[in-house]
Amino acid sequence: MTIQWFPGHMAKARRQVTEKIKLIDIVFELVDARIPMSSRNPMIDEIVSSKPRIVLLNKADKADDSITKQWIEYFKEQDIPAIAIDAQSGTGLKQITALSKVLLKEKFDKMAAKGIKPRAIRALIIGIPNVGKSTLINRLAKRNITKTGDRPGVTTAQQWVKVGNELELLDTPGILWPKFEDQLVGQKLATTGAIKDTILNLQEVTVFALNFLKEHYPKRLLERYNLNEIPEEIVPLFDEIGKKRGCMVSGGYIDYDKTSELILREIRTDKLGKLSFETPADFQDK
Ligand code: G4P
Repeated sequence: MTIQWFPGHMAKARRQVTEKIKLIDIVFELVDARIPMSSRNPMIDEIVSSKPRIVLLNKADKADDSITKQWIEYFKEQDIPAIAIDAQSGTGLKQITALSKVLLKEKFDKMAAKGIKPRAIRALIIGIPNVGKSTLINRLAKRNITKTGDRPGVTTAQQWVKVGNELELLDTPGILWPKFEDQLVGQKLATTGAIKDTILNLQEVTVFALNFLKEHYPKRLLERYNLNEIPEEIVPLFDEIGKKRGCMVSGGYIDYDKTSELILREIRTDKLGKLSFETPADFQDK
């Protein structure tokens, strides 16, 4: 789902998230494992500063495993525990409660010492649109919840959903805006399918994706499109793929929109294998 974010929406979204954070013990920050930095809210550290946090690298089934490991280390170095998960299949979800218990042990021990009756850990799932928040809530809660909270500005009554006996979640996630003013971030979000194609120029996004694959995954590109070699320039590469896949218009010209759609669809549906579009090294000194 695509949301057009305006300053008023952003302020409201932030207010709503801040209100929700007051109710919980721990924040689960959901990001896309393929682009963990580009799929974060730019103000996240400030917004959740008052509560412990776990970063959940979701859609790990679509990301390059070795790079996901690097990301887990990266977050660990920043004192933020991170777990790779796949909310759709449920992989990795068991670790969430276990790790939350560890992080909140001191708080709950203190509560027990004061004679406060033990209760479930309360958590909030937070993230930009399309990172898998609803999928994760549904998976954890083992039920189907409609996406009523998916528009900033929509107020609904807060409800808790139980995850076993030891954890409960707010049933509507905290939705925050992406770092959309950065063009590279926009291209990565579009390549992975997090933002709708209509917002960005389809061919420009594909040029970004092809250049990225050329540099980081040349073998996959060669194999998928049955190429003998990868042309230096991007236009001949486009032409070659378009020709091979029959994306032509009359007169023997390449249909660049059709070729772009095909390439992006194949990237998003993992036809080129598990891909990560950024590594911690890209963010050194930043
Ligand atoms: P949101 O609430 O954060 O906005 O995200 P939502 O749960 O709606 O998930 C967005 C899309 O991502 C959904 O696909 C969902 O099935 C998919 N998804 C969520 N978690 C995972 C995961 O761990 N692995 C994989 N492979 N996919 C996941 P969709 O309904 O088909 O939407 P779209 O892909 O057409 O945008």
